[in-house]
Formats: sequence, C-alpha cells, structure tokens
Amino acid sequence: MTVLGLESSCDETSVSIIRDDKILANLISSQHFHLKYGGVVPELSSRAHLQMITPLFKEALIKAKIPKEEIDVVSATAGPGLIGALLVGLNFGKALSYSLNKPFVAVNHIEGHIFSGFLMKDKPEFPILTLVVSGGHTLLLLVKDDLNIVKLGTTIDDAAGEAFDKVAKMIGLGYPGGPKVQEYAQKGNANAIKFPIANLKGDYDYSFSGLKTSVLRYVQKEYVNSENIPENDKSDIAASFQNAVVKALSQNVEKAIIQYNVKTLSLVGGVAANMAIREKISELAWKYNKKLVIPDIEFCGDNAAMIAYRASKLFENNIVSGLTANAFPSLPKDAFQSIEI
Ligand code: KG4
Ligand code: ZN
Repeated sequence: MTVLGLESSCDETSVSIIRDDKILANLISSQHFHLKYGGVVPELSSRAHLQMITPLFKEALIKAKIPKEEIDVVSATAGPGLIGALLVGLNFGKALSYSLNKPFVAVNHIEGHIFSGFLMKDKPEFPILTLVVSGGHTLLLLVKDDLNIVKLGTTIDDAAGEAFDKVAKMIGLGYPGGPKVQEYAQKGNANAIKFPIANLKGDYDYSFSGLKTSVLRYVQKEYVNSENIPENDKSDIAASFQNAVVKALSQNVEKAIIQYNVKTLSLVGGVAANMAIREKISELAWKYNKKLVIPDIEFCGDNAAMIAYRASKLFENNIVSGLTANAFPSLPKDAFQSIEI
C-alpha cells in the first residue's frame, strides 16, 4: 500500500510517500523567516505552505520514483495546529483524493507523533509508555495498540516545548528556542541555579508555568532584562532550566514505568530532539529493562512520514474520513480517554 502524507500544522510544510511502512520520500521545508518576528506568524505561515506544497508534492513523486496514480491512500494533518496552515494541507489532500479517486484519511497530528517510533527500523512493541513532548502538547500515554491510547497525564498549563521557546526569548536566544537552549545548555552548569519543579496532585500531570516564571524572575532580579545577560550566564540559566525540565519529565515517566507493565518506552515530538531528555529517558529504559524507541531527529519534529504512517494504520482498521473532514485547531477533550485502568 502506498500512502501520501501531508503535514502543514505549524511552520513546516512536509510531504511524504511511504509504501508498506517503508519511507520512499519525506521532504520537509521549514519556514525560517519567522525568526525575525520572534515566533510563528500564522498568516505568513499559511502563505508559505501554499507556495511550498505543490513543488514539494512533485519533488516527493520524483524522489519516490512513482507516478501519482500509484498512490493508494491520501492523508493530511487535520489538527491540532494553526487553522489557516492546516487548511492548506488538508484541502490539497482532499482535492488530490477527489481527482485520483482514492480514499482520504484525516490524521490527528498528535497521533502522528505518538506512532512516529514505528518509522524506525527497530519498532516499538505494545504496550508502550509514550511521552509526547512538542511545542503545543505534553502527554504521558499508555499506548495499548493502534487504536487504544490511554492518557495518564498532561500539562495543566504550558507545554514543554512552549517553556523552552519562552525561556529562550527571556534570555535573548531567539526562535526556535528549543535547539538554542540546548546549544547554550551544553556549555553551562546545570546546577548553577536551582529552579523549582512542580509537584502536582494529579499523579502524572505536568506544569511548566511556575518554572518559566521563576526563570523570568531570576532574569529580572539579576540583570533587569535579557540584553544585560553575559553569554556564560545565559549558558548557566539554559542548563539549569533544561535540567529542571528533564527532572520534571522523567519523574512521572519513572512512576508510570513502575506502575504499568509496558514493553516499550518511547519519547516523541519536537522536544524529543533534546539530547539531555533523550539521555535521561534512555537511562530509565535501561534501568527498568524496557525496549527503548526514540525516533531519529528528522522524525521528532513535524514531518509527513508520521502522518502517512498513522493514516496507513487507520486505513487498515477501516477508518477513512472522506472529503467532509474539517480542520480543528486544538486537541479535542475526548481525544484520548482519561485514565481508567
Ligand atoms: O513537534 P514539533 O516540531 O511541533 C509541534 O507539534 O509543536 O515541536 C516543536 C517544539 C518547539 O517548541 C521547539 O522549540 C522544540 O520542539 N524543540 C526542542 C528541541 N528541538 C525542537 N526543544 C528542546 N530541545 C531541542 N533540541
Ligand atoms: Zn508536532
């Protein structure tokens, strides 16, 4: 089965073609121009997706060495994400599905991330304990099989990636913040500043807003604003902040490993590109003798291969959306059932 995947939920336009779970093409065009605005400008993002999607689609066919008629299933991200941006990929996909007379599958972007470990050579084995850390979401999930996902916990305020991006801004590192914070953190002392991590009542929930505010207070108190922070101090703040995030993320993961009998531990989403988080999660997998699956960096951030893969599994389970599928900006409340196990 040959599946086309389209992804345009934020600032990456991506087109992928997979055949029988093998990636034939996975092209990603990143919108670096948002840098000068300090964050993603939704309208500019939509326009850039419009410009890129057709050339990327043509290039993907060339790369995959197939004519478009060989596509069996067309899929696109329907949400969550920026609505104008989502509509570009979704409508392109629906139009293509109509013209090729092939089924259309709308994919939840977060589900794309959740199953992205299956794009790797060494695949996860169910049940999987999955930590999703992206720009908009932080979720700890028990993935029992292709269609059964149980939510153990989520963030009650900021997502992990959002915290990275905001802290980067506070200390003058620019956008996108995550990779910049990591770069500075590598040169800094992780124990230089003690930033607090939240201790929540909900067993597996997260909160990053207190941590973010304490970084802001520290910057205001010590330097008034980001322009006065010496480079070495930026590294220490970045390293200490990253250390707090690693601790916050991993303590719930460890609790869940002990409580649930899973075969695999998986870390996915844009923030899964972070080396310190990858190392800590790997350590936990080793400590508890679990299989570890963390996608290669290319498949941590937004990519269409994960959308195509998810669509292939939905299609195999007779889940097809048709051309009435609509874009949705946020994760539906009932997207994953809450913990009841
Ligand atoms: O999954 P993703 O590409 O987009 C969303 O679905 O949100 O995640 C983007 C997020 C951004 O917040 C970005 O700063 C963060 O992932 N990120 C990182 C790193 N690389 C990307 N955060 C920490 N360390 C990194 N190396
Ligand atoms: Zn994403």
